[in-house]
Amino acid sequence: MKHPSEHSVIFKGLGAYLPKNKLTNNELAQMVNTSDEWIRTRTGIVTRHIAQTEEKTSDMCTEAARLALKNAGLQPSDIDLIIVATVTSDKIFPSTATIVQKNLGLGPVPAFDLEAACSGFLYAIDVALSMMVRSATYKNVLVIGGEKLSTIVDWTDRSTCVLFGDAAGAAVLSKVNEARVGIIESVLGADGSNAELLHVPTGGIAMPTSNDVNKPFIKMNGKEVFKHAVRVMEKVARDVLSQTGIDIKDIDCVIPHQANQRIIESLVEHLKLSPEKVFINLSKVGNTSAASIPLALFDAIQEGRIKRGNWVLLVAFGAGLTWASTLIKWH
Ligand SMILES: CC(C)(COP(=O)(O)OP(=O)(O)OC[C@H]1O[C@@H](n2cnc3c(N)ncnc32)[C@H](O)[C@@H]1OP(=O)(O)O)[C@@H](O)C(=O)NCCC(=O)NCCS
Repeated sequence: MKHPSEHSVIFKGLGAYLPKNKLTNNELAQMVNTSDEWIRTRTGIVTRHIAQTEEKTSDMCTEAARLALKNAGLQPSDIDLIIVATVTSDKIFPSTATIVQKNLGLGPVPAFDLEAACSGFLYAIDVALSMMVRSATYKNVLVIGGEKLSTIVDWTDRSTCVLFGDAAGAAVLSKVNEARVGIIESVLGADGSNAELLHVPTGGIAMPTSNDVNKPFIKMNGKEVFKHAVRVMEKVARDVLSQTGIDIKDIDCVIPHQANQRIIESLVEHLKLSPEKVFINLSKVGNTSAASIPLALFDAIQEGRIKRGNWVLLVAFGAGLTWASTLIKWH
C-alpha cells in the first residue's frame, strides 16, 4: 500500500479541453482511401477534434487545467507542483509544464513533463502520488495529459491518420486527512524491446528533421500493437487488483485508454467485465494518447457514471511499450 498513514490523495477536480474543429470519417475518406464504414467497424471512431495551427499543446493543457482548478474550488496559488504528460510538447525544451505554469500564473513551484505515451497520465499520477506521500510540501498537485497529435500524424497514411485526435485533460490531486480513499494503488510497467511497434522514428536527436526531410510521423504495426495492448492491459489490471485484494466484480467503473473499440471489447472479454461498467468515449474523440484517460474520466463524471464511494479502475497502454493501472476509491 502506497500510503499506510491516515492521509490519502484524492481527485479533487477534473477538467478537459477539446479543440473546436471536428474531423469526421467522411471528411477523412476525401483525404485518403478509406470509408466511414471501415473506420467505424475497425476502430469505433466516428469523429476526432483537431487543433488550429496556432493552438499549441500548452494552450489546450492550460484550458483543461483552468477547469480542473475551478472544479476543485482552488486558486492557482494553491498548487504546489505541476506535471504534464505529453509526447507532443511545444518545444524540445523547456517543458510544456513550465509554459502552462506561466499561463496559469502559478507560483515558483516545481514543473516538469513526463513522457510515457498513452500511459503518460497514469505514470504522472503515480509520480505525483509518490511525491505527495513522501513530502508535506505537496498538498495540491496539477496533473495534465495533453496532446496535439495532429502535428505528428502522416495525413497520407490511412492506417494511422484515422485513429488520433487532439485534446487535453487535467486533474487536481489533493491530500486529505482520511485513510484509504482516493488513489489506493498504482502499477506501472514498460518493455523497451518492443519500442519499434509504435514510434516516431524521426525528428529527435537520432534522426533530426531538416527542411522537409525526416518529418516526425507516427509509424505503427497495428496488428502487433493490438495484441500487446489486450495482453498487457489485462495483466496490469489484474496486478493492481491482486495487490489490493479487490475483486474485479467489486469495480463500479473501468476507464480504459481510448485507443480502439475492439481492443476495449477484447479486454472486457478477457477480464470478464460487465460491459455496462466500462466507460467509452472514443467514438467522438479518437485516440488522444496522454489526454485519453483524464478526458474519459471527466466525461464519466459529467455523465454521472462515477459516484462517491465507487471503485474506479483506470487502465492504460501505449508506445514504449508502456502500461499502467490505477485503482481509486472515488471521494
Ligand atoms: C490499425 C487497426 C485499426 C487496423 O485494423 P486491422 O484489422 O488490424 O487491419 P490491418 O492492418 O490488418 O489491415 C487490413 C487491411 O485494411 C487496410 N487498411 C488499413 N487502414 C485502412 C483504412 N483506414 N481504411 C481502409 N482500409 C485500411 C490495410 O491496408 C489492409 O489492406 P490489405 O489487406 O489490402 O493489405 C488495428 O490494427 C488497431 O487498432 N491496432 C491498434 C492500434 C492502436 O490502438 N494504436 C495505439 C495504441 S496506444
